[in-house]
Amino acid sequence: MGVFSTPTIVNSWNEWDPLKHVIVGVADGCCIPPAEPASEPKIPVDSDMRGRHGPRPPETVAHANELLNDFVRILEGRGIRVDRPTPIDFNQKISTPDWTHGTMFGCTPPRDVLLTLGSEMLEATMSYRSRWFEYLCYRPLLKRYCSEDPNMRHEAAPKPRLTDRSYKPDYLSENITIEERLDMVARKDFVTTEEEPLFDAADVLRFGKDLVVQHGFTTNLLGIDWLKRHFTDHRVHAVNFPGDPYPIHIDATFTPLRPGLIINNPERRLPDQQRAFFHRNDWEIVDAAPPAHNEPPPLCYSSVWLSMNVLVLDQQTVCVEETEVYQAEQLDKLGFEVIPIPFREVYPFGGALHCNTTDVCREGDCQDYFPNQ
Ligand code: GLY
Repeated sequence: MGVFSTPTIVNSWNEWDPLKHVIVGVADGCCIPPAEPASEPKIPVDSDMRGRHGPRPPETVAHANELLNDFVRILEGRGIRVDRPTPIDFNQKISTPDWTHGTMFGCTPPRDVLLTLGSEMLEATMSYRSRWFEYLCYRPLLKRYCSEDPNMRHEAAPKPRLTDRSYKPDYLSENITIEERLDMVARKDFVTTEEEPLFDAADVLRFGKDLVVQHGFTTNLLGIDWLKRHFTDHRVHAVNFPGDPYPIHIDATFTPLRPGLIINNPERRLPDQQRAFFHRNDWEIVDAAPPAHNEPPPLCYSSVWLSMNVLVLDQQTVCVEETEVYQAEQLDKLGFEVIPIPFREVYPFGGALHCNTTDVCREGDCQDYFPNQ
């Protein structure tokens, strides 16, 4: 928004150190893309999203933008610099030599596309065709950071081809009951194949030297292997959450709040074997409070568990959606100052407060929070 003239420094190693500079998404022109192999399994048969595609209703875009802008003002009021991506025309047909698709998606949530680690900002491969070109919205910012911070590293993971070979056939919601789906997820039978590395940045949580990555619908094992080979100074840990029938992005499932403390979705508990790693390093994993809502808002991809998709500003301060009163109460009891943010009508655009932001700078350096590997 240009109100800060502080020098640009790209530096962020974790989810909780004091936030200094962040990107917040923009709702302009956001579309519901036509169905594609990656999205079909995620949309339940009774969802109001099914069969719908095209630009989102303009009044919902305007309202989401108001809420996003209000959130920006709150962050800026706390001395945090905020930048915004540049939308392109998402309501156009896109193609590569391998496929065409009816529309793109939008330019929020930024958390899905960009992974900041230290001085590096990495464009994820992405795993949906409709989101293949989304990085273009962030290029003006990345170009600027690169010119303003001599240490900044702009990296991009190899663009995937996303042919039909990247997805399992017959993985449609209508053919699979929820019980069957839970059984498949427990067996790590996900919609994506191992044809090529795939990951969305929102499947990665940063714990300094350790990266915790969800293996699921949007990130495959080759994607996790690529991250291991790329971040050679880090330790990359694959996790999975068998109770989630649609494992897409880790941040409504597992939310680190400060060193030693994580809230975990009680319907998607980390398996004991994977939990042991956190426990032997004195991390406590507590069940997140229940969501305040029984249903997501209309035309929403996500579950009610966006309640736990909070943005930590520092180890004492956290932004929580204002109607998520149970989550706010739990965080208050855990010793946080809770900043309520009206944001529910942004949920349909792809997520809550963590999703709709991505770090540029947090104070602090890379620490080892898991000496007992
Ligand atoms: N994976 C996001 C959600 O729970 O809806």
